[in-house]
Amino acid sequence: MKTRHFLTLMDLQAEELRMLIQRAMERKRLKAPYEPLKNRVLGMIFEKASTRTRVSFEAGIVQLGGAAIFLSPRDSQLERGEPLEDTARVLSRMVDIIALRTHHHNTVERFAEYSEVPVINALTDRFHPCQLLADLQTWFEHRGDIRGCTVAWIGDGNNMCQSYINAARMMDFHLNIACPKGYEPEKVLLQDAASHVSLTHDPKEAAKGANLIVTDVWASMGQEQEQQQRFEAFRNFQVTSKLMQLAHPEALFMHCLPAHRGEEVSAEVLEGNQSVVWDEAENRLHAQKVLLEFLLLPHSFG
Ligand code: CP
Ligand code: NVA
Repeated sequence: MKTRHFLTLMDLQAEELRMLIQRAMERKRLKAPYEPLKNRVLGMIFEKASTRTRVSFEAGIVQLGGAAIFLSPRDSQLERGEPLEDTARVLSRMVDIIALRTHHHNTVERFAEYSEVPVINALTDRFHPCQLLADLQTWFEHRGDIRGCTVAWIGDGNNMCQSYINAARMMDFHLNIACPKGYEPEKVLLQDAASHVSLTHDPKEAAKGANLIVTDVWASMGQEQEQQQRFEAFRNFQVTSKLMQLAHPEALFMHCLPAHRGEEVSAEVLEGNQSVVWDEAENRLHAQKVLLEFLLLPHSFG
């Protein structure tokens, strides 16, 4: 059987994605000890910083009965020039599944090509699919199905925004994207999702009537040198209470975190009663545990 990877949401069928969300909600509710991954090892290579993704994967695999090995480039031979393809072949003969956080999306694709075991994208410059599992779970927990809803993305057309574009196609919701000129998501993704996505440069237009407002940092990891220029460009893209008031009265607010209060979101919104960011962060754990099980024990998903 061909090894299945999770490099973008599109690596799942829409029905599989729905099933993973349901299973994650069930498992979270049951809280019962469950250790189907005894003796399984998750290898983790993180070339960028992480709090949530690292801890949710490490805690998650342990709770499922397995163990994790964390490598940063500094403590592996990668930084000394060992080719990625060699690393993928060697590691995948030793561990059962690998999570990789890196810069270029192409790196996870190349790694997966040479890996004998499933590879999970733990964030690249193009996509952050694990975060979408948690965001969708959070929406389903609070509001039920997302089909037919309107989500407003306010900010950078980055890895999170592009993952939302994939989610809109797969889960059949509409995504209003508002980003500054020059910070749009990739054209090809917009074209492929044309019936599910609208693009504007006006945050108010995007937020109007939306059921969910989502944002992310103005400068992603690796873009630190662009910070000043980005702050100028994104000045009018803060999610404030005023912007939230344009949305549906029962709208929720999400942010993958880490958040910068007073930049992409006001403290009032982040801490306000429409914000579900702490549930969203917790759900990284529940959703990824189900993802690990799905990739390692596909038969248990019938
Ligand atoms: N949201 C998210 O991926 O957070 P970390 O960078 O802390 O993993
Ligand atoms: N867009 C952000 C997400 C962090 C979880 C980044 O890539 O840094």
